[in-house]
This record gives sequence, C-alpha cells and structure tokens, in this order.
Amino acid sequence: MDLFNAFLDFVVPPASLVMLAFAWPTLCFVNTCEWIYDTYFNPSDMEDKVVIITGASSGIGEQIAYEYAKRRAKLVLVARRESRLRGIGENARLLGANHVLIIAADVVKEEECRRFVNETVRIYGRVDHLVNAASLGHTFYFEEATDTSVFPILLDINFWGNVYPTYVALPHLRRSNGRIVVNASVENWLPLPRMSLYSAAKAALINFYETLRLEVKDEVDITIATHGWIGTEMTGGKFLLEEGAEMQWKEEREVNASGGAVEEFARMIVSGACRGDSYVKYPSWYDIFLLYRVFAPNVLKWTFSFLFTTKGVRRTSLMGTGRPLLEGPPQKKLLMAPSTSATTSGTSSPTTSPSRKQPMKME
Ligand SMILES: NC(=O)c1ccc[n+]([C@@H]2O[C@H](COP(=O)([O-])OP(=O)(O)OC[C@H]3O[C@@H](n4cnc5c(N)ncnc54)[C@H](OP(=O)(O)O)[C@@H]3O)[C@@H](O)[C@H]2O)c1
Repeated sequence: MDLFNAFLDFVVPPASLVMLAFAWPTLCFVNTCEWIYDTYFNPSDMEDKVVIITGASSGIGEQIAYEYAKRRAKLVLVARRESRLRGIGENARLLGANHVLIIAADVVKEEECRRFVNETVRIYGRVDHLVNAASLGHTFYFEEATDTSVFPILLDINFWGNVYPTYVALPHLRRSNGRIVVNASVENWLPLPRMSLYSAAKAALINFYETLRLEVKDEVDITIATHGWIGTEMTGGKFLLEEGAEMQWKEEREVNASGGAVEEFARMIVSGACRGDSYVKYPSWYDIFLLYRVFAPNVLKWTFSFLFTTKGVRRTSLMGTGRPLLEGPPQKKLLMAPSTSATTSGTSSPTTSPSRKQPMKME
C-alpha cells in the first residue's frame, strides 16, 4: 500500500498540473461566457430585496451597504456603534435604498443575532442576503501576548460572529433561496506574521462555509470574498474591542499597509453576489500562492523569512502594556448626517426613501 501511495505521490501531482495546463484555456473561456451571461442577461434584481449587513459601521461593510443601496434594496445595518450606523443609514437612503433599518447589536452574542434577524423578518417579512463583515484585526506576534483573554475575543468576532448570524438567518434564507456573503481573507492560504489568530479564524471560516455550501446545496448560495489589504479602519491600524471603541497603538500605525480602494472592492463583492458568483477575489493573482503552498512551500517560507525579518525591527506589544491610545487621521467618509432612518436598540421601524439626493463626501 505504501508503495502504491508513493507511486501516486510521484505521478498524480505532475500529471494533474499538465492536465490543468491544457484545460486552463477552455475553463477560462467557459467562465468568461458564464460571466457575460450572468452580468448582462441574468443579473439578480435587488430592488426591494432584504439585505442584512453586519459590520456595516465602517470599512467594507459600510461600502457594501452603499452598493446594495444603489440597487434599491431594503437594508438592515448591524454593528455596535449605533451613531455611525445612523449616518451610514442616511447615506444609504440618499443613494437609493428603499428602506433602512439600523440595529445596534453584538454579533458574537447569539441572542442579539436572533434579535436582529427576527426584527428584520417582523418588519420586512423576509431575508434575501446576509452579508457578514464584522471583524477584528490584530498585528502582534503571538508570543508577545501577555493577556490571553484577548485570544477568544479574536476568534469570537472573526469566526463565531459569522456563524451565529448565519445559523439564525438560515431558515429564512432557505425560504427566499437567498445568499450568504462571507468576507474572508487571502490570509487563509497566505498567512502573514503578526496575524496568527486572525488567519486561523479566517481559515476556519472558509472551511465552515465550504462545508455549509455542500449542506445547503441549491437552496442557499454562498459567495466567499477573499481579499488582501484594503484601506479600512482595520488596515489603518484600528482594533475594535468590546464597546466598538477604536484602539490604535502607535506601533500599529507604523505598519506599512497599502491596498486597493475599499469602494471598488465592495462594488466587486456586491456585483459578484448579485451575479451568483461563488467567489470574489481581489486581487485574484494571490491564488498562485496556494499553488506554491501545496507544491513548493519552502519557496514561500524563504520569501517570507526574507521579507519579514525581525532583526532590528521593534516588536509590537498590543496587550497588557498599558500604552496610551492614539487616534489616527480621519478617513474620507460620506457625510454622516443626522438620520431619519429607523433605529433598533430596543424598538424599530423602517423608513422609506424620499427623493434621492447626492450624498456629500467629506474629510
Ligand atoms: N481591510 C482589509 O484589508 C481586509 C483584508 C482581508 C479581509 N478583510 C475582511 O473584510 C471584512 C471587513 O473588514 P474591514 O477592513 O472593513 O473592517 P473594519 O473597518 O475594521 O470594520 C469592522 C466592522 O465590524 C464591526 N464589528 C466588530 N466587532 C463587532 C461585534 N462584536 N458585533 C458587531 N459588529 C462588530 C465594527 O463595527 P462596531 O465596532 O461598530 O461594532 C465594524 O463595522 C472583515 O471580515 C475582514 O476580516 C479585510
């Protein structure tokens, strides 16, 4: 048996790679035809469809809300910072959302997830898309942690914060043949130093949703978005804890983060979800690292050892140091106008979009 497996080890990978190389042009052609058909002849009409977006108070979640708003969907915006949600809800309404419901909730608490899903169904009668964008980043070396209580917090938000809303919304998504949109990361197959717990949670997330995809079959679709660095609060070095308060450590601001425009990526995610894509990748060339990881892991190891040498680099210490909090420069945001949108920390009612105006940009 060992001999048999040894033979397969030797033959199957190169044979598969050669087959893939021949099949690649045909696969690309089929995918392109599908893309053209789905984009121009079969796009999902989101008008009056009900979309719940968690983590809608900043970054990608906020921009995703605007994209659905332009498609005239009914939005349910969820995060802990209600004041931010109000301004974003107002912007979404101005961009075209038919109704906007604001619900302050913590996605790591199952009962709160049940509350915002039930509230959505009570008011709108259905759920069509669930977009999970709540997240918490970190950039500390694992062995620098002095307070292990932060470990489960990171896993809670990045993993369970997706699983609970999914669990509660799934029966409603089955009824509407709806869709779940997952915000994962290239960290799943391209782990970087200082992000061990975040990467672990994202890898778990992908395996969870790939398995769920098999279980829900054709009744609920799943779009998994994997992205590299995008300019958001997270890449700006903000790390959000319990009350949604922003923590920014001086060292984190020194992390050199660059990336594509968050608006552009949000547009890609929502277009992909409405088209029925199973995956949205940005940038998609990162996929090649998966191949290296399987066939030549040492190449990645050497590259990262070279790129992330810690010699002479000051180490970060996020936890247990008592360092002062520092605020970063304000991000360019749409106008946070006082809202007439509905708010539910306790009670709620939706608002209807009046005449549409152009939202303003401001620093
Ligand atoms: N930015 C990137 O470069 C990048 C790269 C790869 C993957 N991603 C993924 O993309 C998604 C969005 O990231 P982002 O950069 O837009 O993050 P972000 O700007 O930091 O936003 C995170 C959002 O999650 C919410 N949130 C955090 N904890 C929560 C909780 N317990 N309950 C409810 N809401 C909570 C925050 O709102 P409150 O504080 O108001 O609750 C905030 O709206 C995440 O899944 C992230 O992992 C981002």
